[in-house]
Amino acid sequence: MKTLIEIFPDTDSLTNYFVSRIAEGISQKAPGQVFSVALSGGSTPKAIFEWITKKYKDKIDWSRMVFFWGDERCVPPSDGESNFRMAYENLFRHLHLPDLHFCRIHGENDPESEAARYSEKVNIMLPNSRGIPEFDLMILGLGEDGHTASIFPYNIHLFSSGNLFVTSSHPATGQVRITATGQLINSSREVCFLVTGSGKAGMAARILRQQEGWDKLPASLVNPADGQVIWLLDTEAASLL
Ligand code: 6PG
Repeated sequence: MKTLIEIFPDTDSLTNYFVSRIAEGISQKAPGQVFSVALSGGSTPKAIFEWITKKYKDKIDWSRMVFFWGDERCVPPSDGESNFRMAYENLFRHLHLPDLHFCRIHGENDPESEAARYSEKVNIMLPNSRGIPEFDLMILGLGEDGHTASIFPYNIHLFSSGNLFVTSSHPATGQVRITATGQLINSSREVCFLVTGSGKAGMAARILRQQEGWDKLPASLVNPADGQVIWLLDTEAASLL
């Protein structure tokens, strides 16, 4: 695994770089092949989607992309907690893409059966050279407790599940979620952590500088065997590196 760390003065410049990497990834796909992305939720991607909509949406050939989710809250797509709704409201509704570009997790369905359904759907839709589906890009956030996707320190065992997606729940709110597991995350061709704000500085340093207890945190288990991990941080989140 190769790890690349890039630090930016603000979310605008981080987004510009992020968009350029996506455009480069699309350009490397064979003609007619699509670029598959698994999105995460949270305030960081929300801010990045806003910047893309405001300044950078013309830099990407969206018709070459298919969007999946690495995790979703078990709520309807109309719910304010929905990761799909957050992406739609802040980016996708401005792109006017046909529905076939989106493969959302049906948060409104029974969680266990939806985790199974989505696992099968992803398995069918993505290439899998080693028996595990491969995203071209998996976007991940970093929680202040070291969680990523919806795998938390208390249920870190989910990372090594034999399923592609499993159910989880937020340790503080109990909110039920569906999350990708480690075998799928680590099968990605590229994993991109998007980390901004001073609140993440301690955890970013703990993981990237391998400080005490770092290897007991879900985000530290992200280690795509044949892929690249890239950390895009703003200067606040990188202030302790
Ligand atoms: C979610 C995300 C979650 C998020 C982190 C960081 O569904 O909430 O997948 O893992 O990436 O909690 O969230 P922020 O970007 O809001 O700090």
